[in-house]
Amino acid sequence: MAILPIRIYGEPVLRKRAKEITLMDEKIQRLASEMLGTLRNAGGIGLSANQVGEELRVFVVDRSLFQTDDSPLIIINPEIVDTHGEQTEEEGCLSIPGTYADVTRPLELTVKGIDLNEKEIIVEAKGLLSRVLAHEIDHLNGILFIDHLSSIKRKLLSKKLKKLSTR
Ligand code: NI
Repeated sequence: MAILPIRIYGEPVLRKRAKEITLMDEKIQRLASEMLGTLRNAGGIGLSANQVGEELRVFVVDRSLFQTDDSPLIIINPEIVDTHGEQTEEEGCLSIPGTYADVTRPLELTVKGIDLNEKEIIVEAKGLLSRVLAHEIDHLNGILFIDHLSSIKRKLLSKKLKKLSTR
């Protein structure tokens, strides 16, 4: 199975709003499985399709890293339907290597979407999973975790970010 190259900060695809998936074909199945392999290879928790250069609304989460349920979570055309509370924890991103910062996210969140069998799924997440889902859905809307930081904090990271975007 192919390991896909992960797109790094500065690449325009990370700033695109990914498109709804309207046809569940072999291409989507293969993309999801390659994304999962790429995610595990990179040792990350979540990966969205635009991080591997595909402007499609799908992301994968490796739940084995933090939950007893270790089946991977693959959500197509995800939608946040409910949120509760707040949490602030340090966050990073495979597309912004070596950069970490505190980000405030919903403490609990409910996401609706479809799975690879075209069945509707509803995921009620808390804590870290809630954070990961919010982070991945942001990706599909062209939003990166650094966008949630204050301008002062972003400024502190600007040298690092510039380096990444001009590799
Ligand atoms: Ni990310």
